[in-house]
Amino acid sequence: MDTDRTLRVFTDFYRERGHHLITGSTLLPPPGDPVLFTTSGMHPLTPYLEGRPHPGGRRLVNVQRCLRTTDLDEVGDSAHLTVFEMLGSWSLGDYEHSRSLRWGYELLRDGFGIPHERLHVTVFGGDDQVGPDVESLGTWRELGVPVDQTTEDNWWSNGPVGPCGPDSEIFVWTGETSPQGTPTTDPRWVEVWNHVSMRYRRHEDGGLQPLERPSVDTGMGLERLVTILQGRESVYETDLFEPWTRLLPPLWDLDEPSLRLISDHLRSGVVVIGDGVRPSNTGRGYVLRRVVRRLLTSLRREDPSRTLSDLPVELLRHTLDHFRLTCGTEVVRAELLREERRFDTLLERGRRLLSLPRYQGPLSERDYEYLHDTHGLPRDLVVGLRSRE
Ligand code: SER
Repeated sequence: MDTDRTLRVFTDFYRERGHHLITGSTLLPPPGDPVLFTTSGMHPLTPYLEGRPHPGGRRLVNVQRCLRTTDLDEVGDSAHLTVFEMLGSWSLGDYEHSRSLRWGYELLRDGFGIPHERLHVTVFGGDDQVGPDVESLGTWRELGVPVDQTTEDNWWSNGPVGPCGPDSEIFVWTGETSPQGTPTTDPRWVEVWNHVSMRYRRHEDGGLQPLERPSVDTGMGLERLVTILQGRESVYETDLFEPWTRLLPPLWDLDEPSLRLISDHLRSGVVVIGDGVRPSNTGRGYVLRRVVRRLLTSLRREDPSRTLSDLPVELLRHTLDHFRLTCGTEVVRAELLREERRFDTLLERGRRLLSLPRYQGPLSERDYEYLHDTHGLPRDLVVGLRSRE
């Protein structure tokens, strides 16, 4: 099942069950939100999970693009991406958690064709504040799906304060053999979907207050689901990255980790620019700048003559289309090339400075500070330039 069909099956399933499809899922959180980028599907819905009425009603479905910079160093492994998408469904004080679990089961089995035997779930086993989630336990037992109970892993919260509650995590067996062990004992059980029963609000003092109107919040990573449905070991082997793995290797001779990092960062840069961010030295623009400079550093490592001018427009088009962005490819291309030129100017200045006699020996902390504060040369760039001399 390709990605487009996966998306359609998910949204159609919930729309047929009375959910309103949220359109517009920009990476930029609403004004006043202190977070730079949306990091999960439920993030923009937090006020509504706390009780505010949503203009779309009490049943919602969404495909939300998200960006996480905490995972930057893990980009390039088989699963972590900088920009990714979350499929989500919500009942804002409407139906019960057990109904969400039943629908989730039905969609995975009948909609996505995942055999019953390949499913396993975990539910909240209780702690000193909240009792075990017997309702979910009962629902999964009725459905005949094996259940493990845990404590920390089955409590979901967005932070130290705010809406939270017990959750049910659904795992799919990805091993070659028939299913073995459980999610807590065998990593071939991969978590795909989390159904949270948003029933409490956590206060500053750690106390829990039951929400007047409990909700259900579910989230499933699209890329992980697609990787499983297409029987691949890595997201880079799915149709999501097909144009990247087809077009980049003939252009640039890259090792696998660099190819992954460059594809991920370029794709992320395109989406961030598509959402209206421009490179700068602060906030969102700085995240974009870091992402672009990181990929340029990787791209140029073997061959400094490589340039983003050679980037096939098809990759920009494919990314903008997939993320339903209306921005033109020429705008994105111009921004990327402008940032590449700025980076080249900075590198040139760095090279000239570092060739001065005072920078020939080991550098002190004060040298790094001076190069950064006065000449705009970040430490990692200085280290990179010196190691190349
Ligand atoms: N809040 C849950 C998560 O982010 C489900 O959306 O995983």
